[in-house]
Amino acid sequence: MFRALLSSSSKIGYGTNLYFGRSICTSKQLDAMKVENMLIIGSGLMGSGIAQASAQSGPHFNSIVIQDVNQGALDKAAARIKSNLEKMKSKNSSINVDEIMGRITFSTNIQPKSTDNLLVIEAITEVLDVKQNLFKNLSEQFKDCPNVILATNTSSLPCKDIGIHVTNHSRYAGLHFFNPVPLMKLVEVVKLDNTSDDTYDSLVDYVKSIGKVSVKCKDTPGFIVNRLLLPYMSEAIQMLERGDATVRDIDTAMKLGAGYPMGPFELMDYVGLDTVQLINAVWMKRDPSLIKPSKIIKELVDSGHFGKKSGKGFYEYK
Ligand SMILES: NC(=O)c1ccc[n+]([C@@H]2O[C@H](COP(=O)([O-])OP(=O)(O)OC[C@H]3O[C@@H](n4cnc5c(N)ncnc54)[C@H](O)[C@@H]3O)[C@@H](O)[C@H]2O)c1
Repeated sequence: MFRALLSSSSKIGYGTNLYFGRSICTSKQLDAMKVENMLIIGSGLMGSGIAQASAQSGPHFNSIVIQDVNQGALDKAAARIKSNLEKMKSKNSSINVDEIMGRITFSTNIQPKSTDNLLVIEAITEVLDVKQNLFKNLSEQFKDCPNVILATNTSSLPCKDIGIHVTNHSRYAGLHFFNPVPLMKLVEVVKLDNTSDDTYDSLVDYVKSIGKVSVKCKDTPGFIVNRLLLPYMSEAIQMLERGDATVRDIDTAMKLGAGYPMGPFELMDYVGLDTVQLINAVWMKRDPSLIKPSKIIKELVDSGHFGKKSGKGFYEYK
């Protein structure tokens, strides 16, 4: 697949490798690059999904390292990926679970196998100063390596704020995957004011190489999907709070009347009501006109009802 990709994009090139201190770096800034090595930081739901989707798409990458501060999280990520692949194998016997698992290295150190044409994707907890600090350290670690792209998978924070300490802004962007990553086809590529066209092209090529589809976004609240989805969910909550219709009727209406696969309340239960509350809070700070505070979400979260993951939200789950 990469061969086809390369022949269709004359901008993607290679450079000569040189050693700079402890890192292997290319001798000159390349144009758009073909991602050869990956470093994913954060091995939770999203980081492990990105690692799995990249590894299962084929032997495109020389290395995929997934890093987390928590060894327990890495162990869970490995178990989650293996179990997902085994489920896939039961439907498609050509899947080689050990081979795909063998493409991923799990580590507590932020140490890629190579800095040559390296894509670093941050998928850690959604806390601004922790992310800012991480990007500060990454910029320092890779300061002599022009062929390293740094990307954030944030859902709700401005990419610009996260990258405030980034030194090479032309090589910094947003790369927003959807949950569950191995199944969801879309990736939003967020081009900031200073993201270079070459960096953007490299990310689009990477997304294509793992069998997904990209859309181009600006660094605006919610990018495209959540910008439409969150006000929609907020409107559904207000409808419920005003007593205009029931949870079940609103969900049924949107599934049968608008052709949506899930109603807004089923969707919120699936995402997690704690996550919805967190994202809403960030949004209300960024632009209070987009979302209204919700009494019902607060009451449910305060009672420990987080949706599907806790067994109860707007619905009950066995
Ligand atoms: N959950 C979703 O549906 C979803 C969808 C799209 C994007 N996102 C975004 O992806 C990111 C991760 O979300 P998630 O749901 O995977 O979270 P998660 O809580 O499942 O995982 C976060 C992981 O980051 C690790 N971590 C925390 N600080 C770290 C650090 N400094 N260095 C290395 N690892 C660290 C934690 O140990 C944890 O394993 C967030 O920015 C979130 O907004 C989430």
